[in-house]
Amino acid sequence: MKKLRVAVLISGRGSNMKALIDAAASPEFPAEIILVISNIRDAAGLAVARSAEIPTRTIEHRAFGKGEAGRLAFEAALSSALKEANAELICLAGFMRLLSPAFVRDWDKRLINIHPSLLPSFRGLDVHRAMLAAGVKIAGCTVHFVSADLDAGPIIGQAAVPVLADDTPESLAGRILVEEHRLYPECVRRIAVGDIRFAPNGTVAVSGAPTAGALLNPAPVTRPL
Ligand code: GRF
Repeated sequence: MKKLRVAVLISGRGSNMKALIDAAASPEFPAEIILVISNIRDAAGLAVARSAEIPTRTIEHRAFGKGEAGRLAFEAALSSALKEANAELICLAGFMRLLSPAFVRDWDKRLINIHPSLLPSFRGLDVHRAMLAAGVKIAGCTVHFVSADLDAGPIIGQAAVPVLADDTPESLAGRILVEEHRLYPECVRRIAVGDIRFAPNGTVAVSGAPTAGALLNPAPVTRPL
Protein backbone atom coordinates (compact mmCIF):
# COMPACT_ATOMS: atom_id res chain seq x y z
CA MET A 1 0.00 0.00 0.00
CA LYS A 2 1.37 3.42 -1.00
CA LYS A 3 0.92 5.58 2.10
CA LEU A 4 0.10 9.28 2.09
CA ARG A 5 3.14 11.25 3.26
CA VAL A 6 2.06 13.50 6.12
CA ALA A 7 4.02 16.27 7.84
CA VAL A 8 2.84 17.69 11.17
CA LEU A 9 3.49 21.28 12.27
CA ILE A 10 3.49 21.97 16.01
CA SER A 11 4.33 24.71 18.50
CA GLY A 12 3.65 23.01 21.83
CA ARG A 13 2.91 19.78 23.63
CA GLY A 14 1.89 17.91 20.48
CA SER A 15 -0.82 15.61 21.81
CA ASN A 16 -2.66 15.68 18.47
CA MET A 17 0.62 14.99 16.70
CA LYS A 18 1.07 12.01 19.03
CA ALA A 19 -2.43 10.76 18.17
CA LEU A 20 -1.50 10.91 14.47
CA ILE A 21 1.82 9.15 15.09
CA ASP A 22 0.08 6.41 17.10
CA ALA A 23 -2.59 5.89 14.42
CA ALA A 24 0.05 5.76 11.69
CA ALA A 25 1.97 3.11 13.63
CA SER A 26 -0.70 0.64 12.62
CA PRO A 27 0.24 -1.18 9.38
CA GLU A 28 -3.32 -0.72 8.03
CA PHE A 29 -3.27 3.06 8.44
CA PRO A 30 -3.05 4.56 4.93
CA ALA A 31 -0.78 7.48 5.90
CA GLU A 32 2.69 7.82 7.42
CA ILE A 33 4.13 10.66 9.47
CA ILE A 34 7.32 11.54 7.65
CA LEU A 35 8.27 14.78 9.41
CA VAL A 36 7.40 16.93 12.42
CA ILE A 37 8.34 20.61 12.26
CA SER A 38 8.19 22.98 15.21
CA ASN A 39 8.59 26.75 15.10
CA ILE A 40 9.50 26.65 18.81
CA ARG A 41 12.85 25.09 19.74
CA ASP A 42 11.78 23.63 23.09
CA ALA A 43 8.26 22.51 22.11
CA ALA A 44 7.51 19.43 24.21
CA GLY A 45 6.08 17.64 21.17
CA LEU A 46 9.52 17.47 19.53
CA ALA A 47 10.79 15.04 22.18
CA VAL A 48 7.61 12.97 21.78
CA ALA A 49 8.18 12.74 18.02
CA ARG A 50 11.85 11.87 18.46
CA SER A 51 11.03 9.08 20.87
CA ALA A 52 8.70 7.66 18.22
CA GLU A 53 11.64 7.89 15.77
CA ILE A 54 9.93 10.45 13.56
CA PRO A 55 12.29 12.90 11.83
CA THR A 56 11.98 16.38 13.34
CA ARG A 57 13.06 19.86 12.35
CA THR A 58 12.98 23.15 14.18
CA ILE A 59 12.38 26.19 12.00
CA GLU A 60 12.16 29.14 14.35
CA HIS A 61 10.07 31.99 13.00
CA ARG A 62 12.04 34.34 15.26
CA ALA A 63 15.23 33.65 13.34
CA PHE A 64 13.71 35.26 10.24
CA GLY A 65 12.99 38.63 11.83
CA LYS A 66 9.82 40.62 12.26
CA GLY A 67 7.30 41.98 9.77
CA GLU A 68 6.03 40.75 6.44
CA ALA A 69 9.50 40.02 5.03
CA GLY A 70 10.32 37.86 8.05
CA ARG A 71 7.06 35.98 7.77
CA LEU A 72 7.55 35.26 4.07
CA ALA A 73 11.13 34.07 4.63
CA PHE A 74 9.96 31.80 7.47
CA GLU A 75 7.25 30.34 5.25
CA ALA A 76 9.68 29.84 2.37
CA ALA A 77 11.90 27.82 4.73
CA LEU A 78 8.88 25.81 5.88
CA SER A 79 7.80 25.12 2.31
CA SER A 80 11.22 23.99 1.22
CA ALA A 81 11.53 21.63 4.20
CA LEU A 82 8.11 20.19 3.37
CA LYS A 83 8.93 19.81 -0.31
CA GLU A 84 12.33 18.28 0.44
CA ALA A 85 10.51 15.64 2.52
CA ASN A 86 7.96 15.10 -0.29
CA ALA A 87 5.09 15.88 2.05
CA GLU A 88 1.69 15.32 0.45
CA LEU A 89 -0.46 16.53 3.36
CA ILE A 90 0.35 19.00 6.14
CA CYS A 91 -1.43 18.73 9.47
CA LEU A 92 -1.36 21.77 11.72
CA ALA A 93 -1.54 20.52 15.30
CA GLY A 94 -1.37 23.37 17.77
CA PHE A 95 0.80 25.36 15.34
CA MET A 96 0.61 28.92 16.65
CA ARG A 97 1.57 30.94 13.58
CA LEU A 98 -0.80 32.53 11.11
CA LEU A 99 0.08 31.42 7.60
CA SER A 100 -0.02 33.90 4.73
CA PRO A 101 -2.51 33.60 1.85
CA ALA A 102 0.42 32.76 -0.46
CA PHE A 103 1.50 29.78 1.69
CA VAL A 104 -2.11 28.61 1.99
CA ARG A 105 -2.53 28.85 -1.80
CA ASP A 106 0.70 26.88 -2.40
CA TRP A 107 -0.60 24.04 -0.25
CA ASP A 108 -4.23 24.28 -1.39
CA LYS A 109 -6.25 21.16 -0.45
CA ARG A 110 -3.13 19.72 1.22
CA LEU A 111 -3.18 21.77 4.45
CA ILE A 112 -5.50 20.91 7.34
CA ASN A 113 -5.97 22.05 10.93
CA ILE A 114 -7.72 20.97 14.10
CA HIS A 115 -9.61 23.53 16.16
CA PRO A 116 -11.27 22.96 19.56
CA SER A 117 -14.76 24.24 18.73
CA LEU A 118 -17.64 23.37 16.47
CA LEU A 119 -16.77 25.77 13.66
CA PRO A 120 -17.89 28.21 12.38
CA SER A 121 -18.66 29.10 16.00
CA PHE A 122 -15.81 30.21 18.24
CA ARG A 123 -12.89 30.87 15.94
CA GLY A 124 -9.56 32.08 17.28
CA LEU A 125 -8.01 31.66 20.71
CA ASP A 126 -9.31 31.01 24.24
CA VAL A 127 -12.36 29.27 22.82
CA HIS A 128 -13.12 27.10 25.86
CA ARG A 129 -13.61 30.17 28.04
CA ALA A 130 -15.67 31.82 25.27
CA MET A 131 -17.94 28.76 24.95
CA LEU A 132 -18.58 28.71 28.71
CA ALA A 133 -19.27 32.45 28.70
CA ALA A 134 -21.79 31.94 25.89
CA GLY A 135 -23.46 29.11 27.79
CA VAL A 136 -23.39 26.62 24.93
CA LYS A 137 -24.53 23.14 25.92
CA ILE A 138 -22.71 21.20 23.22
CA ALA A 139 -19.07 21.86 22.32
CA GLY A 140 -16.60 19.94 20.24
CA CYS A 141 -13.81 20.09 17.72
CA THR A 142 -13.40 20.51 13.98
CA VAL A 143 -10.88 19.34 11.41
CA HIS A 144 -10.89 21.63 8.39
CA PHE A 145 -8.90 22.58 5.32
CA VAL A 146 -6.98 25.78 5.91
CA SER A 147 -8.04 28.84 3.97
CA ALA A 148 -6.67 32.38 4.03
CA ASP A 149 -9.16 33.32 6.78
CA LEU A 150 -8.48 32.02 10.30
CA ASP A 151 -10.42 28.86 11.24
CA ALA A 152 -12.72 29.30 8.26
CA GLY A 153 -11.79 26.70 5.61
CA PRO A 154 -13.98 23.81 4.43
CA ILE A 155 -14.97 21.50 7.29
CA ILE A 156 -13.89 17.86 6.97
CA GLY A 157 -15.10 16.42 10.27
CA GLN A 158 -16.43 17.32 13.69
CA ALA A 159 -16.93 15.65 17.06
CA ALA A 160 -19.32 16.88 19.75
CA VAL A 161 -19.23 16.65 23.54
CA PRO A 162 -21.62 17.95 26.20
CA VAL A 163 -20.77 20.98 28.28
CA LEU A 164 -21.32 20.16 31.96
CA ALA A 165 -22.75 22.58 34.51
CA ASP A 166 -19.56 22.70 36.58
CA ASP A 167 -17.12 22.82 33.67
CA THR A 168 -14.05 25.03 33.80
CA PRO A 169 -12.17 25.96 30.61
CA GLU A 170 -9.67 23.24 31.58
CA SER A 171 -12.20 20.47 32.16
CA LEU A 172 -14.00 21.31 28.91
CA ALA A 173 -10.71 21.43 27.01
CA GLY A 174 -9.80 17.99 28.37
CA ARG A 175 -13.13 16.49 27.26
CA ILE A 176 -12.78 17.99 23.79
CA LEU A 177 -9.14 16.90 23.50
CA VAL A 178 -10.10 13.24 23.91
CA GLU A 179 -12.29 13.62 20.81
CA GLU A 180 -9.63 15.61 18.93
CA HIS A 181 -7.36 12.61 19.27
CA ARG A 182 -10.00 10.37 17.68
CA LEU A 183 -11.16 12.80 15.01
CA TYR A 184 -7.83 13.96 13.58
CA PRO A 185 -6.53 10.50 12.62
CA GLU A 186 -9.93 9.57 11.20
CA CYS A 187 -9.97 12.67 8.98
CA VAL A 188 -6.42 11.97 7.79
CA ARG A 189 -7.43 8.40 7.04
CA ARG A 190 -10.44 9.59 5.01
CA ILE A 191 -8.24 11.96 3.01
CA ALA A 192 -5.67 9.22 2.40
CA VAL A 193 -8.24 6.74 1.08
CA GLY A 194 -9.92 9.35 -1.12
CA ASP A 195 -13.20 9.64 0.79
CA ILE A 196 -13.14 13.44 0.53
CA ARG A 197 -14.95 15.25 -2.26
CA PHE A 198 -15.32 18.99 -2.78
CA ALA A 199 -18.87 20.01 -3.62
CA PRO A 200 -19.34 22.82 -6.19
CA ASN A 201 -20.06 25.28 -3.37
CA GLY A 202 -16.65 24.57 -1.80
CA THR A 203 -17.88 22.45 1.10
CA VAL A 204 -16.48 18.98 1.74
CA ALA A 205 -18.48 15.78 1.48
CA VAL A 206 -17.12 12.64 3.15
CA SER A 207 -18.22 9.25 1.82
CA GLY A 208 -19.89 6.77 4.11
CA ALA A 209 -22.61 6.94 6.69
CA PRO A 210 -22.12 8.85 9.93
CA THR A 211 -22.40 6.93 13.15
CA ALA A 212 -26.01 7.04 14.27
CA GLY A 213 -27.39 8.96 17.19
CA ALA A 214 -27.72 12.51 18.35
CA LEU A 215 -26.18 14.20 21.36
CA LEU A 216 -28.85 15.92 23.44
CA ASN A 217 -27.90 18.12 26.36
CA PRO A 218 -29.90 18.08 28.60
CA ALA A 219 -30.63 14.47 27.76
CA PRO A 220 -34.28 13.42 28.03
CA VAL A 221 -34.92 11.54 31.28
CA THR A 222 -36.75 8.25 30.94
CA ARG A 223 -39.38 8.40 33.70
CA PRO A 224 -41.18 5.35 35.03
CA LEU A 225 -44.84 5.30 33.89
C1 GRF B 1 -5.57 21.62 20.43
O1 GRF B 1 -6.62 21.92 21.30
C2 GRF B 1 -5.93 21.98 19.03
O2 GRF B 1 -7.28 21.81 18.75
C3 GRF B 1 -5.56 23.44 18.96
O3 GRF B 1 -4.39 23.55 19.73
C4 GRF B 1 -4.36 22.51 20.69
C5 GRF B 1 -3.07 21.78 20.47
O4 GRF B 1 -2.86 20.80 21.44
N1 GRF B 1 -5.39 23.87 17.59
P1 GRF B 1 -1.73 19.70 21.22
O5 GRF B 1 -0.42 20.46 21.04
O6 GRF B 1 -2.08 18.91 20.01
O7 GRF B 1 -1.74 18.89 22.47
